[in-house]
Amino acid sequence: MAELSKGKSQRNPPRHQTEQQLVRRRALAQTQCVEPHRKRTSGAQYIAGLMSGTSADGIDAVVAELQGSERGLRARVVAHTHEPFEAGLRRQILRVCMRGTVAEICELNFVLGQQFARAALAVIRKAKLRPAEVTAIGSHGQTIHHLPNARTPSTLQIGEPSVIAEQTGITTVADFRVRDVAAGGQGAPLVAYADWALFTDNSRPRIVQNIGGIANLTFLPPGAELEEVQAFDTGPGNMVIDAVATELSGGRRSFDKDGRWADRGQVSEKLLAELMAHPFLRRPPPKTTGREEFGEPFVRRLLASARRMRLRSEDIVATVTAFTAASIADAWDRFIFPALKAKDGSKVEVILGGGGAKNQTLRRMLSESRRVGMRRTILRRAVKRPNEIQILTHEDFGMANSAKEALAFAILAYETLHGRASNVPQATGARHRVVLGKILPESARILALPSIRFEAGS
Ligand SMILES: Nc1ncnc2c1ncn2[C@@H]1O[C@H](COP(=O)(O)OP(=O)(O)O)[C@@H](O)[C@H]1O
Ligand SMILES: [Mg+2]
Repeated sequence: MAELSKGKSQRNPPRHQTEQQLVRRRALAQTQCVEPHRKRTSGAQYIAGLMSGTSADGIDAVVAELQGSERGLRARVVAHTHEPFEAGLRRQILRVCMRGTVAEICELNFVLGQQFARAALAVIRKAKLRPAEVTAIGSHGQTIHHLPNARTPSTLQIGEPSVIAEQTGITTVADFRVRDVAAGGQGAPLVAYADWALFTDNSRPRIVQNIGGIANLTFLPPGAELEEVQAFDTGPGNMVIDAVATELSGGRRSFDKDGRWADRGQVSEKLLAELMAHPFLRRPPPKTTGREEFGEPFVRRLLASARRMRLRSEDIVATVTAFTAASIADAWDRFIFPALKAKDGSKVEVILGGGGAKNQTLRRMLSESRRVGMRRTILRRAVKRPNEIQILTHEDFGMANSAKEALAFAILAYETLHGRASNVPQATGARHRVVLGKILPESARILALPSIRFEAGS
C-alpha cells in the first residue's frame, strides 16, 4: 500500500473510487505507517513504544522503524500488541490513582515496570526481532496523578523504567512529562509533536482527535510549522462512560462495547446540559485534565442527578456518551474553527483514534453533533464552521486506532536519543522547548549509543 505514490493516486483515479477511498489512499501513501514490516530501510532504527493511558485498560506496545526527523520523519509500525491488565490489577491501579498509600505506589511502580517489560518483549517477538536489534524503548508509564494547575504543578507516571531496562536489556527512555512541567508546562498533550510529524498535510487542515480515557486533539493547519500546531485536552473520552458502565452493571462490564448499550438509550437533554456546564470545557487552552476532574467524584455526582431524574441505565449510558461527543464538538467550535483561515479552504479532515474510535454510538453522535443546534445555545453566538468535516480514523492511515499513542512515545524516545526537543510549548504552556525524558542505558551498550548531541536551542 505504501508503494502507492501520492502523485499517481491523485493524477489518475479510477472512476469507481469514491472520494472517501481516495482520501484513504492519499493518507496511506503519505504516512507509510504500514504493517507488516518486510525489510529494514537502511539508516532506520527500530524503537519500541509503550503506552498505558488513563483508562488503565492495558498496555499498547509497538515496534516502529523510524528515520529522519521533524516533518521529515518516516515511521513504519512493524508490530502492535495490546496486553490487557487483568481485572484485579486494573482495579488496583484505579484505586491507587485516587487514594493509594505510599507503600502501594512504591510496589505498583515495580509491578507495572515488569508489565511494561513483558509487553515490550512480546511486541518485539511479534515483530520477529531480537531485543539486540531494538535501539531503545520509549515508555510513557501509567499516570497515577496529574496536577498541572496546583500551587506547585506536578504529574506522576509510574512503571519503573529501570526494571524495563534491566529485564529487556534495552536502553529505555521514560518519564517524558515531568521535564515539560518543570519548564512551566502542563506536561501534556505530548503526542502533538508526533501528530505534527506524521499527519500534517500540505493542503488540508486536520484535527487529530484521540479518544482515550481523556480526549485530546491536535490541530494541524496546512503545511504547519511546529509553532502553528495547537493541542489540548477536550474533556472526558471513555473515562466517564467506563465508570458509569461499571457501576450500572454491578461490575460485570468495564466499558460499553461498540457503544451498544448507549445505542438502546435516550439522551437526557437536561442531564447533558448539566454535564456540559463543567467549567473545564470553557477554559481556553493550554489545558489538560484527568481523573482528578472527571473521575470517581464527578461520576458519583452525575449518577445522583440521573437517579433524581429517574433515568434508566441505558439512558444514562447514552447521555454520558453524548457528553463525550458534545464536549469534543464544542472544543472544535470554540477553539479551532474560529481560527481557520479562509485560505485553508472549507474542508477539515478529522482523524479519530484511541479506544473511543471503536464506539459506534459515540461516532454517530459526534457526526450528528456537528449539525444539531444545541451548542449554539451553549456558546450563545453563531459558530463559524467549515463546509465539510470529513471523519477518518487511524486505520485509514494503515495503523490500528490504538497504536498511535504508543508510536508517539517511540518517536519521542527516538528524538530524545538524538538530542532533539519534542514538546510543543504553545500546546503545553511550557516556557521553551525541552528534550523530554530520562535515559536508562542498557549498560553493555552505553558506549555504543547513537550519537547523543544536545543541540543548543533546538
Ligand atoms: N470495542 C470498543 N467499543 C467501545 N469502547 C471501546 C472499545 N474498545 C475500547 N474501548 C474503550 O477505549 C478505552 C481504551 O482506550 P485507550 O485509547 O486505550 O485509552 P487510554 O489511552 O486512556 O488507555 C477502553 O477503556 C474502552 O472504554
Ligand atoms: Mg489504553
